[in-house]
Amino acid sequence: MIPFLWLILLTHIRWVNAADLANVQTSQVQNIFILAGQSNMSGRGGVINHAITWDGVIPPECKSNPNIFRLSAGLTWVKAQEPLHQDIDLSKFCGVGPGMSFANSVLKRDPNIGAIGLVPCAIGGTNISEWARGGVLYNHMIRRTEAALRGGGKIQALLWYQGESDTVALEDAKLYKFRLRRLFKNVLHDLHSPTLPVIQVALASSIGPYREQVRKAQLGINLPNVRTVDAKGLPVGMDYVHITTLAQVQLGQMLADSFHQTQTTQAVLLPIQESQHIHAAAASAWLHSIKRLMLYRMHGTKIVKRPDASPWNYAGK
Ligand SMILES: *[C@@H]1O[C@H](CO)[C@@H](O)[C@H](O)[C@H]1NC(C)=O
Ligand SMILES: *[C@@H]1O[C@H](CO)[C@@H](O)[C@H](O)[C@H]1NC(C)=O
Repeated sequence: MIPFLWLILLTHIRWVNAADLANVQTSQVQNIFILAGQSNMSGRGGVINHAITWDGVIPPECKSNPNIFRLSAGLTWVKAQEPLHQDIDLSKFCGVGPGMSFANSVLKRDPNIGAIGLVPCAIGGTNISEWARGGVLYNHMIRRTEAALRGGGKIQALLWYQGESDTVALEDAKLYKFRLRRLFKNVLHDLHSPTLPVIQVALASSIGPYREQVRKAQLGINLPNVRTVDAKGLPVGMDYVHITTLAQVQLGQMLADSFHQTQTTQAVLLPIQESQHIHAAAASAWLHSIKRLMLYRMHGTKIVKRPDASPWNYAGK
């Protein structure tokens, strides 16, 4: 009985891998970027009507380009288009984030860099504890990145925009620096990329009272690979919670500028040895767990109303 199950499993895995290999585009992707964090990284630019519609406005800086791909939830490279996180951040309507503007800007600065592969992993409303090693979000990010690397190419940077959810409780704000450092170190270690550039965004304002503590933690992170771009001054939209489409365009360009600077000190990369074969079962297990998490967020007890008592809930954003 058990060997029989194994056989089915192995056959299944084989089949999935063969299907993945048929995805020839994979080998075209040369520059891989992880996008992680919460809603501003996922993208809420142009999301209106209490977060139930996206206005569909795509500025020229965020347009698709034959040299920009995204890793789908099913772990294949597809043409990248806004909203980049639509099959990943399933809890809310996604809009424009910094990813496309970033990728277009990188290509504009360096047309010979080769095709770009974006690996969207951000989930709205998540706090840094939920990104700890071993958790669903962390594992998802690592597995997706490993899957992205399978077809060749090189991981170029982790782009990280998070922190708002940790401005609510003093305890979380106090521990933020420790948790952030640990997260970045773990990612570099687990991706076998000790010099991988991490480009994070410093939070400018927040709904939670402990914004300054979190911001200070971000600015004081002091790790050799970590660079910070500051969201201060970027316009926040009518929901008071997320930066606007045009702000996302600008942020993407700031991230690209910062990435460009890292290019002068090239990252040394080691080959990935483990988990070469990520199969569709992992992707679907992920989808199930994230749906459960989102249901909890939407219907659980943790929902906190925003001060203006709109139907928007704080915990779910
Ligand atoms: C952060 O997430 C963890 C795990 O879900 C939870 O226990 C904790 O209460 C959260 N903190 C905040 C401020 O939401
Ligand atoms: C989005 O970023 C802006 C600018 O830093 C910040 O004011 C806001 O709190 C962030 N929102 C979330 C949900 O992270």
